[in-house]
Amino acid sequence: MSFLEISGLYVDVGGFELSGIGVKAEKGDYLALIGPTGSGKSLLLETIIGFYTPEKGRIILEGRDITDLPPDMRQISIVYQDHMLFPHMDVFENIAYALRKKLRDKKQIEAEVKQIAGVLGIDELLYRKPGTLSGGEKQRAALARSLVVRPKLLLLDEPFSALDARTKERLREMLKKAIIGYSTTVLHVTHDFEDVWALANHVVVIRKGEVMQAGDPESVFRRPSPDFVAEFLGTNMLKGKVKALEGKLTVVETESLEIYSSDPAVPGEEVAVSIRPEEIILARGAVESSARNILKGKVSGIFKKEHTVMAEVQIGDAEIKAVVTPTSCEMLDLQQGKEIYAVFKASNTRIIR
Ligand SMILES: Nc1ncnc2c1ncn2[C@@H]1O[C@H](COP(=O)(O)OP(=O)(O)OP(=O)(O)O)[C@@H](O)[C@H]1O
Ligand SMILES: [Mg+2]
Repeated sequence: MSFLEISGLYVDVGGFELSGIGVKAEKGDYLALIGPTGSGKSLLLETIIGFYTPEKGRIILEGRDITDLPPDMRQISIVYQDHMLFPHMDVFENIAYALRKKLRDKKQIEAEVKQIAGVLGIDELLYRKPGTLSGGEKQRAALARSLVVRPKLLLLDEPFSALDARTKERLREMLKKAIIGYSTTVLHVTHDFEDVWALANHVVVIRKGEVMQAGDPESVFRRPSPDFVAEFLGTNMLKGKVKALEGKLTVVETESLEIYSSDPAVPGEEVAVSIRPEEIILARGAVESSARNILKGKVSGIFKKEHTVMAEVQIGDAEIKAVVTPTSCEMLDLQQGKEIYAVFKASNTRIIR
């Protein structure tokens, strides 16, 4: 039996339901829960913590069935996007609040608060009121308050989404240290795939209240189930047929392209080749490169995000998405209709059957 076992969970909130959710985690696992807006991620967390009662299904935590326990008996903590600190208490009191129900010894309470404050780098802020803190500091205080009671399970509902990229990065590092130190098991809802890569050893993709795919990030992102998960994760999927083997490489022929992959396959097989958008380099010419795939196409779309640019390139009958930095977008002078080469290694592609 796993440390956390959620099985066959049905929750109906009128107009929306979680239908038959199953999630497993071992002690110390870091699960990322991703899915489109309105897919039931927050509802799942709130059911796990006990704010909703499932019609069917069980939640087992460390061998104990907690499905019918009140929230405060479950030894589960939650941190939201909005810190929800008590405004009239200083940071110390906020962190100590739940601990006082568990411990009587003042010295011990103080030691525990100071320990977690040290790990999360807020020891200098303990006697300030939440209103005087920055967004990142408030979230660290909220994390400290949740971790200080040493929960069996820590639930995070987009705790970093209101923070800037630099602050997010620092907080991820601190969170990582803290959860290792407190040997916590985490279920983290996020829209930011960076969180998945930086923190999680397991990822669960949900859609309309159902689990679509689960596994380690590498396999889910590189071998997404076709259609929804691939589309949602932005993984390029090129469908074709294995044409031939050339040495150690497999040549896959799509309607108008030939793609080289280092994955083995048998000629004649119908397959899809996946390639992550971060692993495609865009170049103005057919550059000298060790990458086997150098495909000529035309820019068909440019989408500027906070720190990256997503470029769509029409190559033959396929549209390939590539992520570039704003600097290289400028240097390449990417514009709709412009001729461009997409370059990627055979070793970065996966053949999916
Ligand atoms: N108490 C409730 N009563 C009725 N409908 C609800 C309730 N809670 C959630 N819902 C509905 O259930 C669906 C899933 O909501 P949920 O908040 O879990 O989505 P989410 O995946 O967390 O989305 P987001 O990424 O935007 O936070 C939504 O359509 C929401 O309106
Ligand atoms: Mg939500």
